[in-house]
Amino acid sequence: MNEHEVPAAELLSAIEARRSKIGIIGLGYVGLPLAMTVSRAGFTVIGFDIDPDKMVAIAAGRSYIEAVPEAVLKTETGEGRFSATSDFSRLGECDIIAICVPTPLTRHREPDLSYVANTCREIAKTLRPGQLIVLESTTWPGTTEEVMKPILEKGGLVAGRDFFLGYSPEREDPGNRDFETSTIPKVVAGDGEAASAMVAAFYGAVVKTVVPVSGTRTAEAVKLTENVFRAVNIALVNELKLVYERMGIDIWEVIDAAKTKPFGYMPFYPGPGLGGHCIPIDPFYLTWKSREYDLRRASSNWPARSTRPCRAMWWTGWPKRSTGRSARRSAVRGSCFSASPTRRTSPTSVKARRSS
Ligand SMILES: NC(=O)c1ccc[n+]([C@@H]2O[C@H](COP(=O)([O-])OP(=O)(O)OC[C@H]3O[C@@H](n4cnc5c(N)ncnc54)[C@H](O)[C@@H]3O)[C@@H](O)[C@H]2O)c1
Repeated sequence: MNEHEVPAAELLSAIEARRSKIGIIGLGYVGLPLAMTVSRAGFTVIGFDIDPDKMVAIAAGRSYIEAVPEAVLKTETGEGRFSATSDFSRLGECDIIAICVPTPLTRHREPDLSYVANTCREIAKTLRPGQLIVLESTTWPGTTEEVMKPILEKGGLVAGRDFFLGYSPEREDPGNRDFETSTIPKVVAGDGEAASAMVAAFYGAVVKTVVPVSGTRTAEAVKLTENVFRAVNIALVNELKLVYERMGIDIWEVIDAAKTKPFGYMPFYPGPGLGGHCIPIDPFYLTWKSREYDLRRASSNWPARSTRPCRAMWWTGWPKRSTGRSARRSAVRGSCFSASPTRRTSPTSVKARRSS
């Protein structure tokens, strides 16, 4: 055994015995459910967030995320397995740190990794040998190696030798009662062999199924693939709805019949949003990175397509079908703006200009 195998072996046995302390940075839609899943698996979890309102809510046992029942939050805090803090100096206490901070777009629709970078700078202040750092936020392939690693290694510790680095994309589906964090298969990857084993061991202890892939870039690409797939298909079905509406054909009846095909078809439904707030954002992450490979043309259509579903706003069928009650046209127009990453090119603003 060489000298660097010691921390790796220690962390693996600590995971197995649930002795390792887990830090989760960013207690939003992804981070809070993850914190509950990890603490219910028997680990001690410290949640970190910069939002003081979330600290107050957690201390009072008040859940602000639908997927986290108040009773669960109260049990996990009451029994001392989960606590939350804004004191980032406590990151040094944690053996494993999962990062669940936002990855939005800049005003120029380019990836904004400032939250991830700032978080890594905080971790770097107390980074110590044997720690495992895992990014969960959605991002472009290469972020773990190209953005996180240099920041974390600045103090002299080396990834894969002194500390360990991994990526495991979140697959939350807020509002879907059929799944919870622990029952959704989790793609995992590490930067090197030792890190891969640790990431798989950690998530294997908290979720039912882990899906190891060969490296962090692949895992990052898996997440973007899932979301680009969703964006393009929802955009497609919104286009089909327009065409069929003109033809006097009910898109919902078409989809209900089409989905009886047992192969080669998957139903997507028309609507104002794009299946979650990050779906219209994430294709831009891939477009941006693909420019480095001179592939701009191949991928430039994804984000453009993902703004088109806003046209669904102008159809009256959507609110009635999805909510069971009719909605005022003006309300639907409002929601269109929030579903689009920008008003400048959204079909809504084009329509608004035309009618003004
Ligand atoms: N919401 C989803 O359904 C979903 C699903 C899969 C992946 N994701 C991805 O997961 C990531 C997080 O998304 P989310 O929906 O949980 O976001 P969110 O906005 O709900 O939560 C992010 C949290 O991070 C906190 N935060 C911001 N900067 C911080 C910092 N420097 N240090 C500590 N905390 C900080 C915020 O206060 C907030 O509580 C994003 O990359 C997103 O694309 C989201």
